[in-house]
Amino acid sequence: MEVKSIIVDGVETFETEINGERIQWDSGLTYAKHIQTKQLLATQIPVSDKPDELLFIIMHQTMELWIKLCLHEVKIALKAIQDDELAKAFKTFDRIATVQRHMIDSWEVLATLSPHDFLTFRGYLRKASGFQSYQYRQLEFLLGNRNADLIVVHQDDEAVLDELKATLAMPSLYDEVLQLLGRRGLTVPEHLLNRDWQQQYEPSDEVENLWKAIYENVEENWDLYTLAEKITALEYYFHEWRFKHMKTVSRVIGFKKGTGGSSGVSYLVKALEYSFFPELWSVRTTLENVNAGDDIADSRYHDDE
Ligand code: HEM
Repeated sequence: MEVKSIIVDGVETFETEINGERIQWDSGLTYAKHIQTKQLLATQIPVSDKPDELLFIIMHQTMELWIKLCLHEVKIALKAIQDDELAKAFKTFDRIATVQRHMIDSWEVLATLSPHDFLTFRGYLRKASGFQSYQYRQLEFLLGNRNADLIVVHQDDEAVLDELKATLAMPSLYDEVLQLLGRRGLTVPEHLLNRDWQQQYEPSDEVENLWKAIYENVEENWDLYTLAEKITALEYYFHEWRFKHMKTVSRVIGFKKGTGGSSGVSYLVKALEYSFFPELWSVRTTLENVNAGDDIADSRYHDDE
């Protein structure tokens, strides 16, 4: 096969023909250099000689990569909200939702790990657990779960600790959404607009009423209503991820304690009770029929004639 070498933009470029296609590559940026394939594929290092450990490592690594993307995108959405560029935030939330659905589906791959498969290498993991995932913790902090005590497991990693503390010191996504409502002239309680961001957010009746007003008049509040629905979807998928994790764990280890020391499934069930945007859930119970006035009385479906 003939390979021609030419110089393009000062870079040595190669060209050949394969199956009638002109194929080119150059000595500068290759696919492998861009994607860092060698480095990436050198990081699956089992601690046992058991064949099922590779699946376990790759599952965690791919989840960490998707969490990295979620963190990146949530930061973009947060900035867009700060800048009152809601259309940009909406596009970003749509991407996050697609990534989340993919992450949820991917639990099916891990479900092929039977209790027997896992037990062949579980002992080698010692105390290592996803509980120590600092990216997951940062994502939770960024979205609004300010459970600061959990950073203690990173006490030996100064860089991680600093980053987690810096995230705790910033307003969360929900705090930024409330700031936006305030800028739009809605009366968000002052103590929520100027709160200590490190503290856990406490649900407020006033905020629930603001969401109620928005949901009961969507025509006039279309962008805030859309924002509310997009972040509700984000939380909905986050919960679904938690749920699938919990179900996968109970399928693989039953009610054994976790390698991270917790009660295991019971701990994960408790985590399902937490909500990032509590009033967006509670408001759903209080909403009345909004456009139903006379239409309902005149409905064709009444059978009182
Ligand atoms: C067979 C596979 C898995 C088992 C048996 C398992 C088990 C557990 C258990 C028992 C916990 C509670 C903490 C502890 O005591 O260890 C936990 C927490 C956690 N795991 Fe997994 N896990 C598995 C797979 C994964 C995967 C693939 C990820 C993806 C990153 C993951 C991420 C997490 C995270 C982020 C937490 C902390 C949750 C929280 O604090 O709310 N786990 N896991």
